Amino acid sequence: ARRPRVLSGIQPTADSFHLGNYLGAVRNWVAMQETHDAFYCVVDLHAITMGHDPAALRSRTRVSIAQLLALGLDPERCTLFVQSHVPEHAQLGWVLSCITGFGEAGRMVQFKDKSAKAGQDSTSVGLFTYPILQAADILLYQADQVPVGEDQRQHLELTRDLAQRFNGRFGQTFTMPSAYIVKDTAKITDLQDPTSKMSKSASSPNGIIELLEDPARSAKKIKSAVTDTGREILYDEVNKPGISNLLTMYAALTTRTIDELLEQYDGRGYGDLKKDLAEVLVEFVKPIQEKTKAYLDDKAQLDKILAIGAEKARAVSAATLARTYKNVGF
Ligand code: ADP
Ligand code: NA
Repeated sequence: ARRPRVLSGIQPTADSFHLGNYLGAVRNWVAMQETHDAFYCVVDLHAITMGHDPAALRSRTRVSIAQLLALGLDPERCTLFVQSHVPEHAQLGWVLSCITGFGEAGRMVQFKDKSAKAGQDSTSVGLFTYPILQAADILLYQADQVPVGEDQRQHLELTRDLAQRFNGRFGQTFTMPSAYIVKDTAKITDLQDPTSKMSKSASSPNGIIELLEDPARSAKKIKSAVTDTGREILYDEVNKPGISNLLTMYAALTTRTIDELLEQYDGRGYGDLKKDLAEVLVEFVKPIQEKTKAYLDDKAQLDKILAIGAEKARAVSAATLARTYKNVGF
């Protein structure tokens, strides 16, 4: 039987992914290479909606790809590419924007949040139409499934509405994508503020573990993570969010379960747990950093990987766009 096709993207908006990006998203991408016909893209078109620096964007796009490869994406087992290398994303985005209601787009909660923070003068039309471009990303590949967190649910709903509307008006063109709920994904919280999620935009420097930072620095952050005043190592997200977060990371980075960790640390202190987790984390990131560097150092090899990825992506996206244009009357 044909494997379900999945599409997912990540923005190249930081110099390094953080541990939450890996444990909450990329780790699952790696697993889905075995079960899905997987398309993964670094969405640089999305990354210019909030203002950006060209040199930083160019470098971050390559660093993102190199990290994804280092973390286990295999171009032989998935289609890995950069969004701007595939012109059909912007082309389909335009067509879809013409069947999206202005009010409909205006109801997107993420736009309301981001534009409220940026202020009207710094809010671009691109930020407003961002979810329409995202719909194009998904529909271009005829994706059956899209892994979505809570914050992306409304955008997937819009994508489904647009697919249905287009197919209804112009004839069957797009596969209707559904949400792929990942059972085993870990939500990682801020080390200094363990009730909010670890986030590149919201976390303080000590609250976030960047995969490419000096591992000694990461170890230090783990050791100074905020924990509650009790002594017992228990998993309790409400009363012990800090310790629970450390246990979540620890279990996700090892073959042990949280229950096994609770047994292992029964009667021991927070210091022991932090020291051991710091070691586990350092051992995890070291080879990732080496591999990332190796991919970045071999410019010709990385260019080749990107060219092959774009070509594989275009084999699908060009066919979808051709059908779209024909059905629309071009
Ligand atoms: P950020 O919140 O740091 O800006 P993004 O929104 O770019 O991160 O998220 C990229 C991917 O990483 C998304 O799939 C998102 O769900 C996941 N992710 C981000 N932060 C976390 C976290 N703290 N825990 C789990 N997953 C996360
Ligand atoms: Na585990």
